[in-house]
Parts: sequence; structure tokens; C-alpha cells
Amino acid sequence: MSSHKFASALKADTKLAHAGRDPLAFHGFVNPPVVHASTVLYPDAKTLVTGQQTYSYARRGNPTTDALESALAEIEGAAGVKIANSGLNAIALAILSCVKAGDHILIADTAYGPTRHFADTVLPGLGVTVEYYDPSVGEEISSLFRAETTAIFTEAPGSLTFEMQDVPVLVAAARTIDATVLMDNTWASPLFCQPLSLGVDLSIQAGTKYIVGHSDVMLGTVAANERAWDKLHTLYGAMGCHAAPDDVFLGLRGLRTLSVRLERHQRNTMEILNWLDGRPEIGVLKYPALASDPGHEIWRRDFSGSSGLCAFDFVTGTSEEQAFKFLDTLTLFGLGFSWGGFESLAIPVRLKGQRTVASFDPNLQSVRLHIGLEDPEDLIKDLEQALTQAFA
Ligand SMILES: Cc1ncc(COP(=O)(O)O)c(C=O)c1O
Repeated sequence: MSSHKFASALKADTKLAHAGRDPLAFHGFVNPPVVHASTVLYPDAKTLVTGQQTYSYARRGNPTTDALESALAEIEGAAGVKIANSGLNAIALAILSCVKAGDHILIADTAYGPTRHFADTVLPGLGVTVEYYDPSVGEEISSLFRAETTAIFTEAPGSLTFEMQDVPVLVAAARTIDATVLMDNTWASPLFCQPLSLGVDLSIQAGTKYIVGHSDVMLGTVAANERAWDKLHTLYGAMGCHAAPDDVFLGLRGLRTLSVRLERHQRNTMEILNWLDGRPEIGVLKYPALASDPGHEIWRRDFSGSSGLCAFDFVTGTSEEQAFKFLDTLTLFGLGFSWGGFESLAIPVRLKGQRTVASFDPNLQSVRLHIGLEDPEDLIKDLEQALTQAFA
């Protein structure tokens, strides 16, 4: 599938519009076809036994999956990309591609809950030792290295609590022991952070969120550099992984508008957080793009923008009943997991069982918001009436 001749010189927005498209290969149609397939036929027996044609069997790829993989490879600057059927599936696939029995993996304590669940329930059975590290560890990560450490899994900002991490420092330490660095980069999307350019080996997206962008498809992606690509590609094939063509197509379609959507998510989120900042019911705001955030400097250095996911603590002394009343009184914010779609969402933050290293105050009431593409004035009115009723 087409890589533009001057691809590396193109700006990100131009890549989003053009990457992975080759209209003349499909009779001039702007988008590639959605190929529903299993069997691929060969013209003759010799071609079949030598495998000398582009496609062999749909599980191994088709023009639709190729289009999204090549588009993302161009956008992420990757040696190759594989598409999984969910973000969690992409995480599992990426981790399994770089650990084996006897190995030790370090995982950020702030990683997405189901990532922890996968690590805690699957990896030990395969003989892999899992250890969580404090997201603020920095170069002290080396003190956690063992002779068997082969991978470091990071996520920045951290799920629910939004801690940033000094990824280049983790990468430099990992290189001294030839460990693979993986990063869940879903919050920033490949538009606002390019993990491979920071030295990360496997860059993961829950495509379900901003790539798809419309809350209607589950998808995951793993972009690999040269060091990590062969193992990822081989495992993907060996496990029989495959993502459905309609879903892949919607991922490709979402990619085309990623930049305009994210720009609006970012602007709306800033406006709403600035408003929340002045409210007496609200304590700490968690969003690295805010100058007050402890991770702001790292964010400024390594990221070029911020998305619509943020959190805040209510002031100390707020009860769970008040926090729930706030959530239940919202009318424009849906109560639901996931994020990255066009609509605003809210959930109560629950850290019990989700942190084993970093400390947290179990009495603090916190809320995670996903700020959607609605008019921020309406969202602010909604937040205002919910705060007023909850704290009446
Ligand atoms: C940071 C992060 N990574 C990964 C995932 C998993 O994605 P999926 O729901 O597509 O499995 C999520 C889902 O909420 C997430 O928030």
C-alpha cells in the first residue's frame, strides 16, 4: 500500500489525510475497499506452493488491513504495525512478543487496570515475573533491574491518576540491559506523542478511543521499531490474530479526522478545567497540559498536544454520596467506561486494587472526565448544576 514518495517530509496532518491510500490501485476510488474474505485463490499450483503472490489467506492480511497498518506505520515512524481486535488485545500481544519463561517485566503501577489484570493472571502462569514500579522512578528504574529483566511497560500519563513518566530516561536505562520498552500511548494518540521517536520499541494504541473516535468499534494497534518488529509480526501470525475488515475500515476512516477532533477535545478540556479550577468543591486537577500539573514539563518536552481525558479530586471531606450525586445529576456526561469518542463521559475513580506501589488517599473522591466535542458552554452549565445539587 502506498507510502507517499516524500512521506518523511510531510507534516502530521497531511500524513493523516494521505497515508495508506492508493486510489489508482482501486480504480480511482479515494478509499480502499472493505475486503470481506477468508480464502484467497491462486492462478496456478506453482504460485500456490511457492507463495509468490501478495495475499495468501485473509488471516495474514488483506488490502483493508494493509491500508491501516501502512498508514499507522507512516504516522508512527514504525518498521511495522499490527492491528488487534481491542486495545487490551494489542497490549497482551505486545507484551507476549517480548517476554518468555524466566523473564522479569517491570510495569508502571499506574498502568490501565486490565493491563495489570493480564499481567497478574496470565504472565505468572507462563513463568514471567511481574513487578510494578512507581511512575516517578526516573533513572532509579535501574535499581529494579534483575539479570532476567527483559521488558519495561509504561503508560503516560497514567490511567486515572495522570502521572507523566520520563520515557527517554527509562529508554536509556533499558538499553543498558537490552530490554524492550513498551508504551501505551492511547491518551496522546500517535498525533500528540510519537513513542518510537523517544526510543520506545513497541507503541500501543487502544484504537477504540481516538483513532476510531466514534464509540462504535473496538480496535488495538501495535507499532514496532526495527528491534521489535520481527517478534511482533511472528507472534501475531502464530496466534492467528485478526481484526474484522469493517472495524479496520472504521479505524482508517477515524484516522482521517483525528487531528481536527483532537484539537477540539484539547480546547474544550482546557476551557472546562480552567472553569473547574475556580470552583470551591474542586481540589487537584489532573491533566499534564496544565502548568500546575507535576508532569507538565515532561509533557511539554515530549508531547505536542493533549486529549480530552482528565480527572479531578473533590476537596477533602467530600463524601462518596456527594460524588455519586454529582455523577448521577449530570445530564450531558454519560456514565461509562471507555473514552475517545465524540461524547462526554464521567466515571468515579476507584484505585483500590489498582495500585501496589504508588500511594493514594482512599478517602479522596475523584472523578475522571472525558470531554467530548459538545459546546463547552453547555458542558460547563451541566457541571455547574451537578456541583450545585451535589453540594447543596
Ligand atoms: C489507557 C488504555 N489503554 C488500553 C485500553 C484498552 O482498550 P480496549 O477497551 O480497546 O481494549 C483502555 C480502555 O479503556 C485504556 O483506557
